[in-house]
This record gives sequence, C-alpha cells and structure tokens, in this order.
Amino acid sequence: MMDAAKSSDVPIEIGRELYAMVRSLKAYLQAERCSDENRGCCMAEVTKQKAPVPGDAKTQAAAAATTEGRGASLEDIKRDLKGCRRCALAEGRNTIVFGEGNAAAALLFVGEGPGEEEDKQARPFVGAAGQLLDRIIVAMGMKRADTYIANVVKCRPPKNRAPRPEEVAACAPFLARQIEAIRPKVICALGASAAQHLLKTDVPVSALRGHFHDYNGIPVMVTYHPAYLLRNPAAKKQVWEDVQKIMPLL
Ligand code: URA
Ligand code: URA
Repeated sequence: MMDAAKSSDVPIEIGRELYAMVRSLKAYLQAERCSDENRGCCMAEVTKQKAPVPGDAKTQAAAAATTEGRGASLEDIKRDLKGCRRCALAEGRNTIVFGEGNAAAALLFVGEGPGEEEDKQARPFVGAAGQLLDRIIVAMGMKRADTYIANVVKCRPPKNRAPRPEEVAACAPFLARQIEAIRPKVICALGASAAQHLLKTDVPVSALRGHFHDYNGIPVMVTYHPAYLLRNPAAKKQVWEDVQKIMPLL
C-alpha cells in the first residue's frame, strides 16, 4: 500500500494555488468586515505590510537574480519596454504609455489601454475619461500623484478598440512586474479589460464590482471604467460606493 502523501509532497503549483486561495479568502473576509463596519479597523494589520510573494525561497531568489523578477524598479521595467514590438499595437502607436504616479503608491488604478490623448502625451488617463478619474481620486480625498495609474496594454489600440487576447498576453508581463514593483495595498480595476485580465475571469463588470477580489494577495476592487461613466452617468453612484470601500484599506 502507498504511504499517505506528506504535506511536503504537495506539488509546488498546487501549493501556490492553495496559498492564493487562502489569501484571497482572507482578504475577502477582512474587506467584507471593513465595509460592514465602514472603517479601517480589521484590514489595517494586513495592509500595513506589503504582501509576500508566493513561491519558495529558491524560486524567489532565482527571480530576484534577473531584472524580470523581484527587486526590479519601475525604471528597469520601463527600460525593458523601450521600442517594444512584441505585438501588432506597435504599428499604430505614437508613444508607449508606461504608466505614472507614486512608485510606492498604496492605490493602483488599472485601465484598459491608452486612447488618442494618452498616445499623444505618453501619459495614462489624460483625456476626458482621465479627467473624470482625477475627480474620482479627489473625491476619495487623494491627489492623482499619490496613486499609480497603469493600463493592461501600453500602446493605443486602433480606434480605441478593446485589446485582443494576443496583445494583452504580450503586454501582461509588464503590468505584472509593475504590480510587483509597487506592491500596492489595493488595486482598483477600471472596466472589463482590467478586471477580467487581473482576475482571470470573463464575468462582467456589473457582477464583479462592489466587492474585493484577489490578485496575488492584493485586494482588487472592480468598478466601472470612467469612459463608461461618461456614457452612463447614472453609474457614478455605484462607482462612488465601490471606491468608498477602498478608502479604509489605504
Ligand atoms: N482609457 C484607459 O483605459 N486608459 C487610459 O489611459 C485612458 C483611457
Ligand atoms: N463594460 C465595460 O467594458 N466597462 C465598464 O466599465 C462597464 C461595462
């Protein structure tokens, strides 16, 4: 008869998955409690520290040995993107919109991809949607420069269409590395592209919004994209409810 599997025999991939599930559940329960009580009591201890990176010491050390791993600064990551031609979006872009803000931000916003104005200025969220995002940030009692703002894809899709799976896949490592470098306390996913990419789901924003999810131990609030709000101003009420749940965690 075979020996019962020892815990040390748990394959590393399953170990990681379990770890992520436990963290996710913990973040969810704590965030639910926070929003119930409407204050930053229970999440405070967890969010004070930057979340640890899953994986054993060996994996982490191997990752840290390259600029692709832990310890890479935003500047390193930006340098690796210079002149990028990894996907077809390179054809139509004027500039690469890396992202900007506080490199140690507690709050990271993730949008979909640059629009026309962003592509001109090489800055995220500077068009009409960006001005609305700025107002949302001010309403949260913060300044834009306190936060970090990034996108799923760094180059403008033609006519602002949604980025295609192969474009998202090509750009994904750069967003993942930005999140690793910043290690924010909370991520706010703006709209479907960001939410579905970060959470590996195709559930619509309307069903994801309003509560916390998990990205590698970081609580993720999903809300409507500011460009959607420009077309559907009535949804501002929900966005305000969503971002208010973030505030106690900061
Ligand atoms: N919409 C986005 O998703 N990102 C931007 O940077 C601007 C508009
Ligand atoms: N669909 C989207 O793509 N974004 C939103 O914000 C809402 C619905």
